[in-house]
Amino acid sequence: MTDVVTMEKIVSLCKRRGFIFPSSEIYGGVGSTYDYGHYGVLLKTNVKGEWWRAMLQDRDDVVALDSAIIQHPRVWEASGHLAGFTDPLVDCRTCKQRFRADHLDQLPCGQKPSKHAGEGPDCDLTEARDFNLMFETTVGPVKESGATVYLRPETAQGIFINFKNVLQFSRRKPPFGIAQIGKSFRNEITPGNFVFRTREFEQMEMEFFVPPAESQRWFEHWLAERERWYVELGIRPDHLRLRAHDADELSHYSSGTSDVEYLFPIGWSELEGIANRGDFDLSRHAEHANEKLEYVDTATRERYVPHVIEPAAGADRATLAFLVDAYDEEQVEGETRTLLRLHPKLAPVKVAVMPLVRKDGQPEVAREIYADLRKRMQAEYDEGGSIGKRYRRQDEIGTPWGVTVDHQTLEDRTVTLRDRDTLEQVRVPIDGLGDELERRLRAPWTTPKLAAA
Ligand code: GAP
Repeated sequence: MTDVVTMEKIVSLCKRRGFIFPSSEIYGGVGSTYDYGHYGVLLKTNVKGEWWRAMLQDRDDVVALDSAIIQHPRVWEASGHLAGFTDPLVDCRTCKQRFRADHLDQLPCGQKPSKHAGEGPDCDLTEARDFNLMFETTVGPVKESGATVYLRPETAQGIFINFKNVLQFSRRKPPFGIAQIGKSFRNEITPGNFVFRTREFEQMEMEFFVPPAESQRWFEHWLAERERWYVELGIRPDHLRLRAHDADELSHYSSGTSDVEYLFPIGWSELEGIANRGDFDLSRHAEHANEKLEYVDTATRERYVPHVIEPAAGADRATLAFLVDAYDEEQVEGETRTLLRLHPKLAPVKVAVMPLVRKDGQPEVAREIYADLRKRMQAEYDEGGSIGKRYRRQDEIGTPWGVTVDHQTLEDRTVTLRDRDTLEQVRVPIDGLGDELERRLRAPWTTPKLAAA
């Protein structure tokens, strides 16, 4: 089966159905900044919820943290971000645009977009220079005398500087992890591809502290776990791969990194990085803060600086991958049906309740059913427009089930239950509808796109 999805179709559906749209539009927009609408918030919340579930509920060796965005500026000195969190930047003296020097072959020339930057006849690029990606601001009421601080470029450092707190208060010993979800900020030179690369984004990061001798084993454990997470949430395995970084790609802190990559319409691209950070971060903070950041085994008196395995994912990038993987079009009775075949656990709305017509007591019964179902799952009541139009709308936001109340409902208290993927409609009693939907929600699910492939 050929994949019909393109980035343009995703951007257009997201805007049309209120998932994600350009920010500050009434002022003409700010480049590559996006706002999430109702369904986008529900979808991304479900993605983050599934990540928390995998970290906290499905295992007992990870604890949660929510650290501050603005931290002591020395955090970034110790972490190496002040000195080394840079991308190579070049200016074009002709078109006055700035480009990432290592992305020139992917970026259009400012004057001749059919050519790559640097390739046009009049391109006049400067030498590359290092551009630090951290956003700076000032803490304190007077800009001149206030202290310069940075918006965090990753959530990870908030975890390392809390290592001692967590060790003490959660009474953990390695191997154990600290997980965090939160906003990070990077002044990317060339953001783009919708929410794939933006300057403000959410990360889902977990730092797993292990005895040094066990680091390779845990690195492999987390590679497998994180790949499995995407597959269990419906991503097609043939659109997912692990790719080990070459030595020249490794970040300053890493002795080994593999990316989970997804086959986006723009090609294979990083979804998540899994790194072996060794003892780099704890040792650097120990040195800079003059604190002991180590583990002492009370029984053996053995002391060591734990090594860290870090699965670092992006909530927006994962949301984009789930949207892309779910997008589908099919011909039904001569018309194109556009739908999101999202895993039911991720779908923003699980069930839509609709009266067939807006009379004969049908809306009243439908509202009763809706009131009952919404106590158990995200449900929506929809009575506007023709039933076909309402189904199309629910298909486009990925609602897995539709419940329709019709004239027969008034006679025998049964409704039709429509399945988004198969279009199968079955008659089921109103009593037990909630249980049936919860059963379906818990059942394993694989995308029908796989069967069709
Ligand atoms: N603590 C390690 C770290 O931050 P990273 O590979 O730079 O590693 C982890 O970032 C994840 O965060 C990426 O795999 C990606 O999903 C997400 N991410 C990074 N930069 C991003 C950006 N500019 N826009 C959207 N997501 C981004």
